[in-house]
Amino acid sequence: VIVYANGQWVNENDAVIPVDERGHQFGDGVYEVTRIYEGKPFMMREHVERLVKSAEAIRMDLGMTVEEIESLMMEAVERSGEKNCDVYIQITRGIAKRGHLFPKDVKPSITMTVRPMEVIAMEERLAGKTAIFHEDERWKNCYIKSLNLLPNILAKQVANDAGAYEAILIRDGYVTEGTSSNIFIVQNGELVTRPLSNYILAGITRMRVEQLAEQLNIPFVEREFTKEDVLEAEEVFMTSTTNEVLPLVEIDGTTIGSGVAGPVTERVAKQFLQTV
Ligand code: PDD
Repeated sequence: VIVYANGQWVNENDAVIPVDERGHQFGDGVYEVTRIYEGKPFMMREHVERLVKSAEAIRMDLGMTVEEIESLMMEAVERSGEKNCDVYIQITRGIAKRGHLFPKDVKPSITMTVRPMEVIAMEERLAGKTAIFHEDERWKNCYIKSLNLLPNILAKQVANDAGAYEAILIRDGYVTEGTSSNIFIVQNGELVTRPLSNYILAGITRMRVEQLAEQLNIPFVEREFTKEDVLEAEEVFMTSTTNEVLPLVEIDGTTIGSGVAGPVTERVAKQFLQTV
């Protein structure tokens, strides 16, 4: 495990964040989780571009270019010596005496960790996971990858307490996304996911799945869908940096399709891992 905190490379338990750090006090910051497969970064440019967009959305000047952020992340990977890992980067508005207004003349506070990460075996992946539905209790700017994850972790914990892996969030009767994933259904052979808007995060894995659907000649459609659409879908899967393409085979106690990953999900999941 390698840890970076504001210009220094330190041991995991030695990184110290001052009490008056705005990420810590207000969740006033943004983050990304990216993946390295066999030493090769996966869509890192897209992740860093999203980080910059998130920062702009909260009116935070990073004072760094996309290239500089990317090379800092790659330096962390090199120092860690890991070949298969995730890189977590968090940038907050900085360190200043607690107060709600933006502090003047502060530099953003940057922390990073690199941790080893293994891809889940295909057999286990295709067996699928379970999910529940949960009200989407988040704010209206879910396109920002902000540190404020309380509604996400509360919903994920409800899922876990119910023996499920993910909570599928519902806003105004329609699925938005998972607590930390995007949701896809297969309906009449079409791959369906919710259109991008301020209500969901523009997932990088989602972006890749759209590209793969085209390569695999699977019709890809962006439209809103309901709980009932999910329960009646031929297949359901979630996508995220840490889970890649992961089938959901039982939701709120209802079996989806045949109860294991369906053919479309299997093709997409395999193609995904072949092209990382
Ligand atoms: N979560 N939606 C939400 C709310 C997320 O937090 C994430 C990612 C995604 C999927 O995005 P991507 O494919 O770019 O990882 C969708 C990360 C992994 C996390 O918080 O750990």
